[in-house]
Amino acid sequence: MLKKILGKAVTTLAGRDDFAIPEHDSPLFAGIDWDRLPRHVAVIMDGNGRWAKGQGMLRTAGHSAGVKTLKNILKTAIGLQLDALTVYAFSTENWKRPEAEVDFLMNLFSEYLKKELQEMHEDNVQIHFIGRLDGLPPSLQKQMREAEELMQNNTGVKFNVAANYGGQDELLRAVQQIALAVKNGQLDPSAIDEALIEKNLDTVGNLPVDLMIRTSGDKRLSNFLLWQAAYAEFYFTDVPWPEFSPECFVDAMKDFASRDRRFGGLTNK
Ligand code: FPP
Repeated sequence: MLKKILGKAVTTLAGRDDFAIPEHDSPLFAGIDWDRLPRHVAVIMDGNGRWAKGQGMLRTAGHSAGVKTLKNILKTAIGLQLDALTVYAFSTENWKRPEAEVDFLMNLFSEYLKKELQEMHEDNVQIHFIGRLDGLPPSLQKQMREAEELMQNNTGVKFNVAANYGGQDELLRAVQQIALAVKNGQLDPSAIDEALIEKNLDTVGNLPVDLMIRTSGDKRLSNFLLWQAAYAEFYFTDVPWPEFSPECFVDAMKDFASRDRRFGGLTNK
């Protein structure tokens, strides 16, 4: 009996299995101001390990639960018709974790692509991977390339998955590419502007980040989208990622709608 209750509680906490893309008039979206939604939302999916330990499970079980959350949040983003959802799956610093956890995560990404690819494609998602992808296992790189190719003509939500990603590393790579063009005589330094830098970032083609969400209590950017989040609104919640439900995501949308964004100017209100 206890096991049954605990099992049910864990399932409830760790996200629903049968979640479908919510319709525009779904009760989930009640009270949303559709004219004040962010277009590009970025998420630091933090707290998998702490959540799992709190449940008496291995840290890796938290990552598995996190996959389910990610699926449901992507479906919610599709229902909201966001332009882009960018998630931090693995940072350039995450290699410092125990080898077994790193291996587990690489395998999890691979399994996720195998299992979810077709459904994401049917949902008209455009998947894209950002980060230093050549540092990832070759078989995973191949899967990533194939996924991007499969969905390249889709027109729905841009779903950017950051893997082996660091904001400083991304800027460094952009500077190197620009410096090379200068060295080769193809570019005059005076022609370097913000637009050119953006063109050399992994997120080329995306709008700037409007809303940056971080779960599980910490309040920092952790080297995520340093350039792109220049004018982002920040939303921090204590809810750990495995428990971050579509309702939590909608709460973040409502909070965003209440913000007065001035972009360095004066108030619009
Ligand atoms: C941070 O939690 C999470 C990660 C480093 C991995 C994120 C991966 C997932 C959510 C799995 C799904 C992703 C894809 C793309 C399939 P943490 O381990 O740092 O948690 P802690 O702060 O409690 O230790």
